[in-house]
Amino acid sequence: MRILVTGGCGFIGTNFILLMREKHPDWYLVNLDLLTYAGNRHNLAHLEASPKTGQGGTYVFAQEDICDPEGVTSLLRDHRIDAVVNFAAESHVDRSINDPSPFVTTNVQGTQNLLECARRHKVQRFVQVSTDEVYGSLESDAPAFTEETPLAPNSPYSASKAGADLLVRAYVETYGLDAVITRCSNNYGPYQFPEKLIPLMFSKAMRDEPLPIYGDGSNVRDWIYVDDHCRGVELALLQGQKGKAYNFGGQAELPNIELVQTLLDQLSKPHSLITYVKDRPGHDRRYAMDFSLAARELGFAPQVTFEQGLQRTLNWYRNNTSWLEKVQSGEYRDFMNQWYGERQ
Ligand code: NAD
Ligand code: DAU
Repeated sequence: MRILVTGGCGFIGTNFILLMREKHPDWYLVNLDLLTYAGNRHNLAHLEASPKTGQGGTYVFAQEDICDPEGVTSLLRDHRIDAVVNFAAESHVDRSINDPSPFVTTNVQGTQNLLECARRHKVQRFVQVSTDEVYGSLESDAPAFTEETPLAPNSPYSASKAGADLLVRAYVETYGLDAVITRCSNNYGPYQFPEKLIPLMFSKAMRDEPLPIYGDGSNVRDWIYVDDHCRGVELALLQGQKGKAYNFGGQAELPNIELVQTLLDQLSKPHSLITYVKDRPGHDRRYAMDFSLAARELGFAPQVTFEQGLQRTLNWYRNNTSWLEKVQSGEYRDFMNQWYGERQ
């Protein structure tokens, strides 16, 4: 199979490429990434150094923008691509509150450009990696989101992802493009950028800095280890039914405060590091995923418990402090200082 993976230098894309290379050493993988602040080419430098697997597989990196029709078309044509998996996105909710514009450009226009290029090139399968956030927010006693739950996004990020999902639907209905959508809950694991909750809290705790909890810390997220999400995307790619959306979740709903206390306990750091700060505007109360459709049709089930996944993740960050330091660039520090400065 010859696959164009977009956003492969980000958190989930990196993990997906590493896992697929291991599971399918005959696959030809082209990683298209613009290398924004969140993209790190070095994650996969060892694949660039040894691109061939010896079993027919290859890895190619291309620095391109998913919004660029010529760049995307050339890659589809030159590498005779069969399938596209679109991870590329602006992915951080807080940044979307700060400045929504790049979210519309990349997540909406970029996805439309990819869909159009894929349609013209007649790719056999398009996988749009979406999110549970398109469904909006749940009350504490409400049933989990299903694929029938109406889209009700609340942040510029989730609105842009919902817009992309609707464009995918339109390309299936109007042009007959063979596309599927995956919607997953909160991922954690190696290579996650330290603006997201778990690596941010790790990074701060290790320096004995205050850990900023939004509001009262009672907002609930459903946590899934990144490899389980990647296995779900693989299943959707290989077995998903054209036009369908599939929910994936980790069966690990936790209030933020409990998660952060557990993390501090694992690191033998005091709970007194926790500090409550001004809430995120429009902060969704709770996400929870009913993934029975994916279980039934794709055989999806998360394999890693939260306890195992957190242990693996913290070990990875402990052993990769230089990675963490490297990605905390000047741009990162500027955003963090401004955002958290406003939350005091
Ligand atoms: P990330 O921010 O870590 O990585 C995004 C990657 O996309 C980066 O490598 C970046 O350089 C690249 N990129 C950004 N704009 C681009 C453009 N215009 N052209 C090409 N590349 C571009 O994100 P992530 O957490 O790995 O998320 C990947 C996907 O999964 C996103 O679509 C996100 O919406 C979705 N998702 C994420 C989660 C989560 O918990 N992180 C959960 C569900 C769904
Ligand atoms: O649910 C899937 C989504 O999960 C993905 O689509 C997004 O790309 C991904 O970023 C993530 O969004 P969240 O907003 O849920 O993740 P984040 O790590 O930013 O925040 C998790 C929770 O922790 C959320 O309730 C906000 C809270 N939080 C976050 C930060 C960064 C804090 O209390 N303090 C913080 O400093």
